[in-house]
Amino acid sequence: MTTKTAAITAVGGYVPEHVLTNAALEQMVDTNDEWITSRTGIKERRILKPTSLGTSFMAIAAARELVQKKNLDPAAIDLVIVSTATPDMPVSSTAAFVATEIGALNAFAYDLQGACSGFLYGMSAASAHISSGRYQKVLLIGADTMSSIIDYTDRSTCVIFGDGAGAVLFEPNDEDLGLQDEVLRVDGKGREFLKIEAGGSMLPASSDTVAAGKHFLHQEGRPVFKFAVSNMVDAIEQVLDQNNLTKNDIDYVVAHQANKRILDAIAKNLDLDYEQMLVNIERYGNTTAATLPLLLWDYESKLKKNQKLLFTAFGGGFTWGATYLTWAYNT
Ligand code: ACO
Repeated sequence: MTTKTAAITAVGGYVPEHVLTNAALEQMVDTNDEWITSRTGIKERRILKPTSLGTSFMAIAAARELVQKKNLDPAAIDLVIVSTATPDMPVSSTAAFVATEIGALNAFAYDLQGACSGFLYGMSAASAHISSGRYQKVLLIGADTMSSIIDYTDRSTCVIFGDGAGAVLFEPNDEDLGLQDEVLRVDGKGREFLKIEAGGSMLPASSDTVAAGKHFLHQEGRPVFKFAVSNMVDAIEQVLDQNNLTKNDIDYVVAHQANKRILDAIAKNLDLDYEQMLVNIERYGNTTAATLPLLLWDYESKLKKNQKLLFTAFGGGFTWGATYLTWAYNT
């Protein structure tokens, strides 16, 4: 059996209709448009209403769009992976529900928790499943309902995050296009800076944990910012080096949309042209596992066959990495 590369062959996406603007946030907490724009680059974000629709609602919508665009029989899908930090419920699997709802009746499915690097890790898993030769069609979805874990009285986090979902299909490629190489890393000591303390096995949810707001996302922005920039830059340099590439060989950098200043710092450190960076943070904020596929969704018409893309992400854990992928189709 010859090992084949796994290429992205279709993209879908979904963002909720409700728009939460900086002006609206000014009415909720002590903040202002100037602070949010200059510190993060975010102008508005989408919020799932009601929250009880759950992350699966957005994941299903993104997957259905992909299935329709690609004219794909969902029964032909072998595997559905949902990368998410905000599953519908701790148990059962969101991916299982999504697979059944979209008609992927012959698939198996699982959730993957890599926080903001969840989609990047999911690309690795999807590609490895394809290259094993056992599977032909892997649907990878990055989806997060960040509004379900954000304290809307905490100005340091509520301005940053939004909700959304993006989906891609991985298939074997005969021209050696698709995922070429990756550098994926973790540093478990990072959980001190970015976490939800309660609701897991160490501190099960109780009325005390809820009263103390420990079911909300806690982030120490400055250290996270510093680790994010240096680790993403290191991972990108390593993956370029491993593949004898320079930054001039790269058509687009598809970077996790956490903060416009992080994107600027990556571009500056690597001496990239700003046109090489795909950016949509101003409209969606940080949608965690959904930022990378939502970039592909927004920019799909710009991408051309054989172009070289560098993906990078950083998130809770800490988790991070960089992935080199060649684009496999023209729209
Ligand atoms: N409006 C106005 N003032 C604010 C706001 C706000 N929304 N939020 C914080 N401030 C204030 C602070 O209280 C502080 O005031 P003080 O100096 O009087 O104490 C001041 O602004 C500076 O606060 P910092 O936290 O130091 O601000 P910073 O410039 O670091 O920006 C931010 C904060 C945007 C969170 C930034 O640190 C950041 O983006 N960090 C990285 C986040 C990230 O990349 N996360 C990735 C992973 S997310 C995941 O995995 C789920």
